[in-house]
Amino acid sequence: MPLEDLHPERDRALSFGVDASAYDRSRSGYPAALLDDLVVVPVIAALDVGCGTGKVAVELARRRVPVLGVDPDPRMAAVARQHGITVEIGRFEDWDDAGRRFDLITCGHAWHWIDPVPGLEKAARLLEPGGRLARFWNYHVVPADLLTEFRAIYADLAPAATVIGGDPGGVPDAPDPFTSHPAFTASAPRTYRWQRRLTGGQWADLVATFADHRRLRPEILHRLRSALRESIERHGGIVDVEGGTYVLRARRQ
Ligand SMILES: C[S@@+](CC[C@H](N)C(=O)[O-])C[C@H]1O[C@@H](n2cnc3c(N)ncnc32)[C@H](O)[C@@H]1O
Repeated sequence: MPLEDLHPERDRALSFGVDASAYDRSRSGYPAALLDDLVVVPVIAALDVGCGTGKVAVELARRRVPVLGVDPDPRMAAVARQHGITVEIGRFEDWDDAGRRFDLITCGHAWHWIDPVPGLEKAARLLEPGGRLARFWNYHVVPADLLTEFRAIYADLAPAATVIGGDPGGVPDAPDPFTSHPAFTASAPRTYRWQRRLTGGQWADLVATFADHRRLRPEILHRLRSALRESIERHGGIVDVEGGTYVLRARRQ
């Protein structure tokens, strides 16, 4: 696939800020083991691309890493700033870096919103030699009997939306363009496993944070959320999520 065609749905990139607080409350964060691994090598300056409400940046700051966020959505940035994160507003591709350089670039659940050709070149320019870049995405797996019910609910109410609850079986950014760029050495993809226990209401809130769900008509989203919540309630009211975070890493030559 040509690199230009890799991130085709960028027109939905600003859908998250419609309810930035709900996103911040309900969206899964990232496993501590991943964040710890990112800072095993001391970091002088990190850039968190598509920082949103700060789910990655807050954890880096907690680990004493100086971190700057960049995000085009001022509503998401406002929440990140409330968490103490410095954020500059802009699309990564055309944000003015003012000559700054970084030794770590992170990007949680956002690289697929970025124009792939200028994004890759900009990452190469911003990273110091030896600097590291990590892009990651979460997935949420529910028990098989529940997933069967979820699939039937989506087929009925929202057939175009991705059913949350199954293992997507691979990263969204495939083939990974960083593996063939001469400025980078890419590592093998890695998955960090984690668990989360959610009520039906919490699951309904979580799925509503995904861009394709946000695009549903409000009454359809409302019906979808209710049906998913009721399904979980029929299964004891709790869903044990077997989660994972796919991580793609690359090192600047
Ligand atoms: C799913 S959210 C992820 C937010 C945060 N990194 C997290 O893990 O929760 C995607 C974020 O990417 C941002 N975004 C969209 N297009 C972008 C672009 N071209 N450059 C940088 N960020 C972008 C959105 O505004 C949104 O805040």
